[in-house]
Amino acid sequence: MRFGLAGTGYWARIAHAPALSSTVDVELTAVWGRNRQAAAELAAEYQATPYHDISAFLAGVDAVCFAVPPDLQAALATQAAREGKHLLLEKPVALTEAAADGLVEAVEQAGVASVVFFTNRFLPEVRAWLAEVEARGGWAGGVSAWLGSALRESNPFNTPWRRDNGGLWDVGPHMISLLWASLGPVTSVTADPGPADVAHLVLHHRGGATSTTTVTLSAAEAAAGFEAYVWGESGRLAAPEGSDDPVTALGTALCELAANARAGQTGHPCDVRFGRDVVRVLAEAQRQIDARRAGRPSA
Ligand SMILES: NC(=O)c1ccc[n+]([C@@H]2O[C@H](COP(=O)([O-])OP(=O)(O)OC[C@H]3O[C@@H](n4cnc5c(N)ncnc54)[C@H](OP(=O)(O)O)[C@@H]3O)[C@@H](O)[C@H]2O)c1
Repeated sequence: MRFGLAGTGYWARIAHAPALSSTVDVELTAVWGRNRQAAAELAAEYQATPYHDISAFLAGVDAVCFAVPPDLQAALATQAAREGKHLLLEKPVALTEAAADGLVEAVEQAGVASVVFFTNRFLPEVRAWLAEVEARGGWAGGVSAWLGSALRESNPFNTPWRRDNGGLWDVGPHMISLLWASLGPVTSVTADPGPADVAHLVLHHRGGATSTTTVTLSAAEAAAGFEAYVWGESGRLAAPEGSDDPVTALGTALCELAANARAGQTGHPCDVRFGRDVVRVLAEAQRQIDARRAGRPSA
């Protein structure tokens, strides 16, 4: 399956390009970027063709792997789906519900396969934890936090879209995806902001469990880290932090996307519809945070 890579930034270089080049049955044939030199350099490293024109880029591939900011991803992925390309998307799939809905509509109309790279959902140790969560059952709730330091000056992930949208939209999707998979679909969210980009979310899950998560990208490095556990009759079960090897996890996501595309199968637990559902939770949380910051009642 011929894949095009959209994006030439740090994440594309350390995760997407190596994963595409090391995954069986997947070939990195094209690289698109607004920066012609960066596209040429990345493409040359992988014997792929660089593109500046998006239509020419899409014309020669079967599938597209995205490593661009979420608002740009939503627009480009909608175009790619309309042209019949399978999609390996990044989280969040969009920055608005309208853009996420438009993307889902394009994917469904074209009948293409999609997978969203919620990293921890593709790690074997997290999948084993989720299987144990399901096998034990009887969970009353979950407690979690991802305190990131990406907005620190020297961090390679200190990018404009993260500065604009903060931890809610960057690490929030990972936490919502994990709590959703372990405790059931999220039916409502209550959100309250803390200092800087700190966001506290209370989630209600279908079935009655409730969970909390705190997310930020502004933590001091000494405080940074991830933790999550579910609790219930049988005690607590802590989620593994997971390896920091995104290439292997992304390889799994690519294999599953390619297998679905070949089988004509469009559904996946982390497909674009799930990505859109997570955006709905984020957008509602953002509305409440904006209202609270502006001193308005949020309901
Ligand atoms: N799953 C994970 O664990 C994980 C980890 C990291 C990142 N991500 C995801 O990866 C995606 C990319 O994030 P990032 O921080 O790498 O983004 P970024 O550095 O801001 O941008 C990545 C690429 O998009 C290009 N770009 C930015 N704005 C553009 C515009 N207006 N028009 C055309 N090209 C534009 C950049 O070009 P320039 O180089 O010219 O600026 C760069 O090639 C996000 O969805 C993020 O959530 C996921």
